[in-house]
Formats: sequence, structure tokens, C-alpha cells
Amino acid sequence: PYMTTLDRRTDLARRLRDKYGLQDFFIIRGDADESPELQQELAKLMAEEFQKMLFDGAVISVTGGSTMANVGKYLHPADEKLLFVPARGGLGEELGNQANSIASRLASATGGEHKVLYAPDNVGESALESLKAEPSVKEIAELNQQSHYVIHGIGEAFTMAERRNVDDETLAGLKDSGAVGETFGYYFDKEGDIVRKVKTIGLQLEDLESKKAILAVAGGSSKKEAVRAYMKMAPRNTVLFIDETIAEFLLDS
Ligand code: G3H
Repeated sequence: PYMTTLDRRTDLARRLRDKYGLQDFFIIRGDADESPELQQELAKLMAEEFQKMLFDGAVISVTGGSTMANVGKYLHPADEKLLFVPARGGLGEELGNQANSIASRLASATGGEHKVLYAPDNVGESALESLKAEPSVKEIAELNQQSHYVIHGIGEAFTMAERRNVDDETLAGLKDSGAVGETFGYYFDKEGDIVRKVKTIGLQLEDLESKKAILAVAGGSSKKEAVRAYMKMAPRNTVLFIDETIAEFLLDS
């Protein structure tokens, strides 16, 4: 039977909900690696759905990445009182892509407030312990624990590792362990098992299940293995924003 492209995507989302049992799926046309315009469409779709979920007093944990950086462009001033909290410290990425910057952008787009995490993420154990004792850092850790929503990107493991200039030893470790994806500083293999975890003051994976929703975004065929693996670790309260190419890959595999 004849299906419009929108019907087709609605149908893909329904089949994905049936197969994976996550809260919801939102899908844009095509393969987002093919054009910057599609990357923008993906960010816009996420911004629109996120805006519908907002309520007065909502606390939102946010991560970094170029997709998340675009989301701010499509948010509007909100009537609700909102607080955006960085889920991570600096991970060695360019400033505009870090969680602190994204939290500030989303806050200015919606007229909300934001917090800043004044701490790097890749520090040694003893430095981490003393940082955790700092009141301003502690406040962020607590807010991440209590936040209602998490909004984050999913990356391809080696794209992320290179972007963060990790050393050769770490890179070799990621190769040996079969890393395929990365999200909030955690690298995972195709089974969705964490293979490298940067010790962090920010959001912990165990905090995710208690959230109202986790909004995750990834577009482009280069991320299809990463998203398939992510599906094995995603909590049930996940809402996934992807493109048609990834959606079809998830259904076929
Ligand atoms: O952790 C994953 C990354 O934030 C994804 O980054 O949106 O620039 O691909 P990206």
C-alpha cells in the first residue's frame, strides 16, 4: 500500500517501540551524515519534543557534542522555571561542544537558569576526591542525581576519542576492547558493555533509571553500530532521536 514518507517514519517508530520496548522513537528522513541540513532537522525535532515535556521546576542534565550544540537553536523561551545542569566536566573537547557551554545555551534559549561545573573530568583519583568535597562541585553532583531529564548525544567511539585527543595507549585500549560507541564519557562495545569509564563527578549511569526520561540523539550512518550497542544499555525511559538510516539498521539487525 502507498505510504507517505511521514507514515513510513511513524511506522518505523512503532516497529522500533515493539522491538526494543523503549519509551519512544522520533525519526528524521535520510542519513544525517549526508548533509548538515539533516543534522539541523534532527536537532530541531529533539528541541520540539523536549519543549513539550517541560514543566515548572524541571531540572535537566545535559551533555556536550555538536548535535546537542544545535538543539539550543530550536528552543523557544519557556513559561516554566527551568534549571540546566552540566552532566559532565570538560572532556578535552573544544569549549563550544562541552556540557557547560551547552547547558548555558539551552538556558539562554529557554530563559532558564544554568549551573557550571568548574572541574575537568579526566583527573586522577586523589584530585577527584578533593574536588568532590568542594561545595560548588558537590552541588552539581547532587543536582545531577535529582534531575528530571537527561538530554545527550551518542557518538562513534573513535571519532570521539580523536576529537578529545586521547593518548595512544588509551586509543590502543579502546581498539583492543572493541569500543564502538561513546556517551557521557563512557565508551562501550557492541554488546553495550562499558569498556572505558572516565571517573567523573558528573552524572552516573546508575542515576538514569530514576529519571522521567532520557532523551538521546544520534544521526548518520557512521553512528549506526554505536546506536545499536547503545540499545543494549539504554534504560526503558529512553526517548531516542535518530534518522531513517539508523532506524532501518536497528530493525534489520
Ligand atoms: O558523547 C557523544 C557525543 O556528545 C556526540 O557528539 O553530537 O558531536 O556527534 P556529536
